[in-house]
Amino acid sequence: MFPTFAALHFLLAFALVACLSAELALLKAPAERISYTALAKIDATYGASAGLLIAVGLYRAIYLEKGWAYYSHSLPFLIKLTLFAAIALLSIYPTIQFIGARRGDKIMEQRTIANIQKIIHIELMLVVVLIVCASLAAKGVGFVT
Ligand code: HEM
Repeated sequence: MFPTFAALHFLLAFALVACLSAELALLKAPAERISYTALAKIDATYGASAGLLIAVGLYRAIYLEKGWAYYSHSLPFLIKLTLFAAIALLSIYPTIQFIGARRGDKIMEQRTIANIQKIIHIELMLVVVLIVCASLAAKGVGFVT
């Protein structure tokens, strides 16, 4: 069978990282020149990618690949899920700020921008660890009974 869901999984994961990188790039501009409309749109794409990623990922884990009986005993896979949840939680603050800035047509404070930059850097670092966990889970490393 053509690995449609595996390809989709990769595309969504790349889209998620691309959105975070684009947000970082936009946030480099001086506060008054940041396009808050663009930020909010990219963040919505980020949210959609994350939502689809969890749907496609769970579908693969439960119905395709090695099956839930394997993944529910795979330590790297469980860490991967925890990291994904942590990334999702971390993204709440930037999302609220982006929506607020766009709706209120106001400029974000420099301190808020610095905080969001820090959060996005942490999210990207967690994605790196998450990818290592994904590879370990795929190779059968860390299976616990
Ligand atoms: C930022 C989020 C994610 C990234 C970057 C990511 C990355 C990856 C990568 C690189 C692989 C391929 C591993 C390999 O073949 O060596 C993979 C496989 C997989 N991922 Fe994800 N993933 C993410 C989120 C998720 C989520 C949320 C789930 C489940 C809820 C999930 C479920 C799976 C499954 C089932 C596989 C197949 C593993 C296997 O071949 O046994 N992923 N992922």
